[in-house]
Amino acid sequence: MTLIRTHTCGELTREQTGETAILNGWVGTRRDLGGVIFIDLRDRYGITQVVFSPQDDKTAHELADQLRPEYVIGVEGEVRQRDPINVNPNVKTGDIELRVKKLVIYSRSETPPFEIQDDLKTNEDLRLKYRYLDLRRPAMQRNLMLRSALYRHTREYFHEQQFAEIETPFLMRSTPEGARDYLVPSRVNPGKFFALPQSPQTYKQILMVSGMDRYFQIVKCFRDEDLRADRQPEFTQIDVEMSFVDEEQVYTLMEGLLQRILREVVGAQVDTPFPRMTYKEAMTTYGSDKPDTRFDMKFVDFSEIVRDSEFRVFSKTVADGGAVVGFVVPGMGSLGRGVMDRLTKRTRDEIGAGGLIYIKNNEDEIYSSVSKFVSEDMTRAMVEVSGAQKGDLILLLAGSAETVYGQLGDLRLLMAREYDLIDTSAYNLLWVTDFPLLEYDSEDGRYYAMHHPFTSPRPEDVELLKTDPGKVRARAYDLVMNGSEIGGGSIRIHDTELQSTMFEALGIGKDEAQQKFGFLLDAFRYGAPPHGGIALGLDRIAMLLTEAKSLRDVIAFPKNQRAISLMDNCPSVVDQAQLRELHIRLAPGLDSADK
Ligand code: AMO
Repeated sequence: MTLIRTHTCGELTREQTGETAILNGWVGTRRDLGGVIFIDLRDRYGITQVVFSPQDDKTAHELADQLRPEYVIGVEGEVRQRDPINVNPNVKTGDIELRVKKLVIYSRSETPPFEIQDDLKTNEDLRLKYRYLDLRRPAMQRNLMLRSALYRHTREYFHEQQFAEIETPFLMRSTPEGARDYLVPSRVNPGKFFALPQSPQTYKQILMVSGMDRYFQIVKCFRDEDLRADRQPEFTQIDVEMSFVDEEQVYTLMEGLLQRILREVVGAQVDTPFPRMTYKEAMTTYGSDKPDTRFDMKFVDFSEIVRDSEFRVFSKTVADGGAVVGFVVPGMGSLGRGVMDRLTKRTRDEIGAGGLIYIKNNEDEIYSSVSKFVSEDMTRAMVEVSGAQKGDLILLLAGSAETVYGQLGDLRLLMAREYDLIDTSAYNLLWVTDFPLLEYDSEDGRYYAMHHPFTSPRPEDVELLKTDPGKVRARAYDLVMNGSEIGGGSIRIHDTELQSTMFEALGIGKDEAQQKFGFLLDAFRYGAPPHGGIALGLDRIAMLLTEAKSLRDVIAFPKNQRAISLMDNCPSVVDQAQLRELHIRLAPGLDSADK
């Protein structure tokens, strides 16, 4: 018999004193004191202390002796105020306890492989194998509830703005650009495969051709790529497309969404419009296309000052077209020799730079790690240009333009994390704009679309597509929060002519283009509106708002680093019969389930 609850475990306060209440939940910690049993009863809403005493009910007290962690029970009893010394001011229910008169044990639990508590030290694989237990932990339930609130506010916002929520297929044509596709064999069409969408990009553009005008979807995407803490093979996008817009409408719309989400979900206020920065500026100022602007440490270019230095590392780097760049670390001029040696080693080993040069701008002296080779005057000039105050440290790298900014960007982050220079209470949002349209891959000897092949070039750069494709800027933008890329999008090409020029620049011939994207090109021949859009990474937003360390902590059933789901142990082998039906034969050395 289920005791139907009158309250949740996070609800009862002093106000209900004297009332009879029924609670359901899981047994947490248990304490026995002088023949009285105290249990923390837990559900999604909170924890309530329930008490079994022979004075309140003999049968319930006797049965309670069997209770162990994670048993599921129902209790009926009277709400009482706790003795003053037992009051717990940290929880809503901390003033009261339930004196039990009736207990029903719904189910028993084996001893769980780890305790259901927030400061858990167990390894992650065990948590993932017993995910149902891991998800019982209040911290994980809070993460999932925050995620649920993200869905709700996103949906409400887009519906208020006249967007149509439309589902697009999960079984689609394979278009291998970008990451690898997850393929699905077709039983009824032997030898043919569907792909799971890496994103609904082509569908949402076609919906614009269909006149749907404003589309959004909270949608799963699948990418078979190498995993990192901020990447999962299946993840969720807030996917958006709009007709008859340019960048400004997309920016305004998304700024409104982020403002709403931050206000409603974490109670944070952010100002709009968000700052904007070109890709070039982001790279040369922060060494990253997703700069963390919660702290300063902007790059200073010393190349001009050191161009004629006798120190070859400086002069040769500049002569070869490279750069000598650095940044000021406030207040770190006092770091000792040993610390600086270790930092130099890390800069080499972890960041891949040739070496680290530093200047300590201290009250009594200006110390330079290359004072043997660089004159005092030049060092003083560098300190001046850097804007360093007394007591500050300047870190410098010299290298080719292609590598030095990225390495210095990594060093900037390393320093900020190591010395707690980041204001972690801030939410810093910005747009990074004017990305290059194409990226050259020297291994393949061809250009790839940096965003995707449907992204429009800047009109003034179109001519360059045929002469100097690497220089063409895209009408693409990324949304960055606290140093993470939380979204990306672009204004699309809606002109078939321009789309063909783009395919040519990508080395995709007419036939190949027709074969891969023919359906989209065909659609564009029947009246395509100017359109553009964006997709936000919902998991990444959830990760930032919960301050989780990995996407796995904000996804109910994630894959681990090896793209395996440990709970249901997949991917797995399948029966020979299933394979036969799908017209698939395994390569030699691979076995089916029944072999
Ligand atoms: P893009 O590939 O930039 O754009 O993806 C948009 C956002 O999705 C998130 N994201 C991921 N999150 C978790 N795991 C992953 N493997 C992963 N890959 C991407 C990121 C990213 O910013 N169709 C375009 C959007 C458009 O042009 O409208 C697209 O998918 O936060």
